[in-house]
Amino acid sequence: MSIPKDKIEEVRERASIVQVVSEYLPLTKRGHNHVGLCPFHSEKTPSFTVSEEKKIFYCFGCNATGNVITFIMKKEGLEFPEAVRTLARRYGITINEFKKEVPDEREAIYGALKAAAEYFMLELRTPNGAQSREYLKGRGVTGELAKQFSMGFAPNKWDGLTNHLKKRGVSTEAAHRAGLIVKRDNSPGYYDRFRGRVIFPITDMRGRIIGFGGRTLDDKIQPKYLNSPESPVFKKGETLFGLSQSKEQIQKEGSVIVVEGYFDLVALHKHGFRNSVATMGTALTPEHIKVLKGYASTIYALFDSDEAGKSAAIRGLSLFLNEDVSCRAVLLDKGKDPDEFLKLSGPEALMEAVAEAPTLMEFYLRNLRDKLNISAPEGKKKYFGDALSYLSRIKDIAERGHYVSIVASTLGIGIDAVYDALKRPGADKNLKVNIAKEPVASRPEAMLLKVLIRHPDLYTPDADTAIEAFGDAALKKAGTAICGFLRDGKAISAADLLEGAEDAESRGRLANLLFREDDGYVEEPERMLRDSIKSVLNRGRVKQSTQEFTRESIKLLEQMGKSEVALEIRKRLEIGPQGKRH
Ligand code: UTP
Ligand code: MN
Repeated sequence: MSIPKDKIEEVRERASIVQVVSEYLPLTKRGHNHVGLCPFHSEKTPSFTVSEEKKIFYCFGCNATGNVITFIMKKEGLEFPEAVRTLARRYGITINEFKKEVPDEREAIYGALKAAAEYFMLELRTPNGAQSREYLKGRGVTGELAKQFSMGFAPNKWDGLTNHLKKRGVSTEAAHRAGLIVKRDNSPGYYDRFRGRVIFPITDMRGRIIGFGGRTLDDKIQPKYLNSPESPVFKKGETLFGLSQSKEQIQKEGSVIVVEGYFDLVALHKHGFRNSVATMGTALTPEHIKVLKGYASTIYALFDSDEAGKSAAIRGLSLFLNEDVSCRAVLLDKGKDPDEFLKLSGPEALMEAVAEAPTLMEFYLRNLRDKLNISAPEGKKKYFGDALSYLSRIKDIAERGHYVSIVASTLGIGIDAVYDALKRPGADKNLKVNIAKEPVASRPEAMLLKVLIRHPDLYTPDADTAIEAFGDAALKKAGTAICGFLRDGKAISAADLLEGAEDAESRGRLANLLFREDDGYVEEPERMLRDSIKSVLNRGRVKQSTQEFTRESIKLLEQMGKSEVALEIRKRLEIGPQGKRH
């Protein structure tokens, strides 16, 4: 069933975003907006801003943004239509849903995955599955654990699942889109993707199956693990294995343990570490962190003691520097991964390692020190340069002080020397992390859009021309959309704009623009509009025309025989003989 478009709009119009958000967190009025502590990242001073007038929210800390519907989706873990229905009920809006002509593709995929999981689970219990049961037993997986994770077995057949799905009425297309069956190369038809493997169903936050991971029973067979390909319901970089089983415990403890492997996760659960998730072999992504931040304020990353583990930690560091979440690196000395560590050393040893875990920054600084020969001046210099680039990104003064003293004592220099170096421009040169800041070049562009949103009556076709010349892709897209509305004589809302944004980045930039730059009114809007149009249109041209003018004059001077003066001008303006800058 689907919800008519106009009903969705009605819900967005009638639901008070301030009222809805207030039910989740206290808001206080500040100017035109309401502010509170962001529910999507942990913070001590409020940067979560809600605008009743614009019907959107935006967090200056983590860039989370959206409207009343997306807020409910995030907080309640609902899909879009369910969030609309919830709000509609609350505001007494009746929705007459209609049946879509085509069945929802996602629903079909979920159905296929569910049917497959049932097949795998059954197969684990048949005589065929004896070998896989032995395998699991050998790896310390009890029947109870297998049940808790809905583990299964894919028998070593080409058409076991294919036939099962057919019998269950699952369409070939859905099974294929779900990644369960693979098209044959040289003949028509499909075959099972997972064969002769122990199966881990991968679920979303709500426990719905979105994919599978399968491990060979025989280590000689490659690849060791086979995972479902990405599909409309499975995005690897956003998914954490075990989250649906662990999320309550994570929330309770306020911390989460992150590992990389399926069996590592199962072993953690077995030994009572039920606040844990697995990334399925990849490094943590910003999307993972965003998800985890909703549940925990501390992330413990368990790393194998080998080099690969260390470099994964270092790659992860820059991600955490801009997040209001504390990340600690747990180093396992014995055994190569958490599963083996628990077998060899037991849960108490892991508890100890977790308690002693250095922050990711301490871990990084230690690693850097060990890697470089800091008894030599070259090593000291390199250490200092690298360390500074990270220190410069730590915003909290107390936290920064902690690391400054580590660096100072490592090098045997004074703390003030480190602070002095941090003040020098370029201290952050080695680190490339995004910071949410409007680039200078796009300021007139942002101003132009802001005026148009505030004063649609001032729209002129000149604005179109200027927007055409925008250098900033996200703003250009937004501007084109705004002018489209205005030309049709329609009002444009901030919520519409955000909805139209293509990705999280442009959405964040737009929301940033709509809130940060907007104090509710524009002084002398006509002049601001005129000026910003002029400044956008002239930006490229001014430079070009002065140069052209100069070139012409130089030529003229040369023709007049005043080559010495011409040369002098060339030198001063760094214009080469061909009129090119060098
Ligand atoms: P590891 O290679 O560290 O294996 O991969 P593991 O988890 O210790 O596996 P076991 O203990 O030998 O069974 C870590 C994780 O990376 C992913 C899986 O999620 C695995 O658990 N991986 C690994 C794959 O997706 N494919 C592979 O071929 C290997
Ligand atoms: Mn392992």
